Amino acid sequence: MSYECILTDVRGDAALKTGVITLNRPKQLNALNDQLMDELGQALLAFDADPTIGCIILTGSEKAFAAGADIAAMAKLTHMQAHTRQYISRNWEVIRQVRKPVIAAVAGFALGGGCEVAMMCDILLAADTAKFGQPEIKLGIIPGAGGTQRLPRAIGKAKAMELLLTGRMMGAEEAERAGLVSRIVPAATLMDEALAVAEQINGMSQPSVALLKECVNEAFESGLSSGVQAERRVFHSLFGTEDQQEGMDAFLNKRKAVFTHR
Ligand code: HXC
Repeated sequence: MSYECILTDVRGDAALKTGVITLNRPKQLNALNDQLMDELGQALLAFDADPTIGCIILTGSEKAFAAGADIAAMAKLTHMQAHTRQYISRNWEVIRQVRKPVIAAVAGFALGGGCEVAMMCDILLAADTAKFGQPEIKLGIIPGAGGTQRLPRAIGKAKAMELLLTGRMMGAEEAERAGLVSRIVPAATLMDEALAVAEQINGMSQPSVALLKECVNEAFESGLSSGVQAERRVFHSLFGTEDQQEGMDAFLNKRKAVFTHR
């Protein structure tokens, strides 16, 4: 498949490899237009369907993960066009359909829709150069891909309100303190770190990985008791797998587990 706004690559030499998707509209700081979002959706679904791929890494350039939705493409939209064409929402949620872990490796600007896409990922690794923000308020709009929902869940109401209402950017350290990112790494080693995390996950039992991801997402998308029930059902069901037998036997016999489903 050839794409114009993204690059794709497969990394690693273990049985399960890592799919890497790089946002690639450098002149526009990876502003997210319809074509880019269509291509991103296709690439994500292709890696998700590929049995040789474990994790997926989504990244941008040194200067920008993505500076938001493409303002030039949105500037002249009327309400009816936005509404009837479902502009922006039509192709923005594909990332949520992916069952494999998606790691955002963010350097530079992750603003507006760029921050929202990063927040849709499962793990968010930040370079020390990363800058996050939802500046839509300065354009006379509000976030349209989950920013008003995911940012408060990630960093709490007061900080989210401040960032959303003022459009202020926060750097990597503030983002880590606030709980938006899992870790900060030097910009020069961002991809190596992301690949190392992916490789670790690729070595785990993949049914556990996919179901674990589902359960953690339940924590954000449902109430506590239904989330705990869903977790319990998954926990019980994993006792039906060879990998559970192997993992526990390996621990008890002080050896490394060799999972079948990797
Ligand atoms: C279109 C963009 C863009 C964007 C940057 N560019 N961001 N084009 N859409 N979101 C373009 C600039 O117009 C410029 O093009 C080139 O990229 C380089 O940007 P500069 O502004 O010259 O760079 P710099 O001075 O370094 O400033 C970087 C920046 C700034 C702070 C990131 O570009 C900026 O504020 N961008 C807009 C950020 C934003 O408001 N994002 C939210 C968008 S709304 P030329 O041709 O002049 O070189 C949104 C809604 C989401 O995301 C809804 C989701 C459903």
